[in-house]
Amino acid sequence: MTEMRTLKVALLGCGNVGAQVARILIEDADALAARTGARLELSGIAVRNLGTKRDVELPQELFTTDAETLVKDADLVIELMGGIEPARTLILSALSNGACVVTGNKALLAQDGPTLYEEADKAGVQLSYEAAVAGAIPILRPIRDSLSGDRITRVLGIVNGTTNFILDQMDSTGAQFADALAEAQRLGYAEADPTADVEGHDAAAKAAILATLSFHTRFALENVHCEGITKVSAADIAAAKDAGFVIKLLAIAEKLTDADGGEGISVRVHPTLLPREHPLAAVRGAFNAVFIEAENAGELMFYGQGAGGTPTASAVLGDLVSAARRLVLGGPQRTETTTGHVPALPIDAAVTSYYIGLDVADQPGVLAKIAQIFAENGVSIEIMRQTIHRDAESNVESAELRIVTHRASEAALAATVEAVKGLDVINSVTSVLRVEGV
Ligand code: HSE
Repeated sequence: MTEMRTLKVALLGCGNVGAQVARILIEDADALAARTGARLELSGIAVRNLGTKRDVELPQELFTTDAETLVKDADLVIELMGGIEPARTLILSALSNGACVVTGNKALLAQDGPTLYEEADKAGVQLSYEAAVAGAIPILRPIRDSLSGDRITRVLGIVNGTTNFILDQMDSTGAQFADALAEAQRLGYAEADPTADVEGHDAAAKAAILATLSFHTRFALENVHCEGITKVSAADIAAAKDAGFVIKLLAIAEKLTDADGGEGISVRVHPTLLPREHPLAAVRGAFNAVFIEAENAGELMFYGQGAGGTPTASAVLGDLVSAARRLVLGGPQRTETTTGHVPALPIDAAVTSYYIGLDVADQPGVLAKIAQIFAENGVSIEIMRQTIHRDAESNVESAELRIVTHRASEAALAATVEAVKGLDVINSVTSVLRVEGV
């Protein structure tokens, strides 16, 4: 029997995910070698501080603070440090040295992906990042490989567990956003500074990656319209529930065709109403899911844990074995294809339905005035429901109107809402939320 080749694996970062990756590399070394055709030898773990206590017991001699030297001598580099620098420089150095790189760094990929992809192409090595989107869920490889003979038309993803947990808490308990966030922090889902999650930035980085792979065109963070969940109120959730919807923070990437046949991709993150029977509505707690529509495959859904040390390590190890197999077999390394050249569309060009809640005077002609504005802007109403309230003190009646529109351009919908706000019979616009899946 010929002796098995050994490939040196450098690990950069030893947080939650890195520690589990190191543990699995050591504990499952024989199984990984059998699947890869080479032994994967963990040659070192670069950390900032040698004295930090880790969740996992690992051989002390593996630790070093000298990431540069570790990278120079590696066949495969796993980057799990996060942040832009020094991760970016170390990845570029690894790629130019001919090492394959596995990373979970969505912020870096969304900000400077093209530089990394180009360096990987130039060096003929693999850059993989399954762990960057939706943790344990195998989603990038299915998009890149399994669906490469199809045409994806739309991706809807719940790709941030923290915000899904918060919205689910609000939906199931009636809590306000601040209380649900406090609960998420108490349980360790949300960070002390929850900005990246609750403002949608984390989901936007993942949306850029999903759009790039789905539409074979490079999209960066600046191409993603991003709205978080901080303005979603308990009243919005209750009204949505009453109307048969659930509110989710969705990362959306979809191909749109204008009246002249021109194609573009709308990439956006925002709170979205989904009918309660939509498959994504069943995604509870901190779980993630990605729903894909493709021309030939039809509808597909991928579901699982979007974060956590061991689940995310599963995605990292999958990439590592795949890259190592390619090194063993030889031949060109696979990168993402960017033959699409479809432009990113501004948010005004997005096509969606709206849910609009209105507090209006209860008097003759109000509905006619509102309907007139919708008609003038070319927006068709799909559902309109009215509930009458009487103020106990003043005895004045008002009406709560809930309108769901058909799909129309964001520009037409925004103009409609602005015009409705100007009507003298409107007491207030109580909510304006986008709707998908109707
Ligand atoms: N903070 C993310 C989430 C996990 O809540 O899903 C890492 O991307």
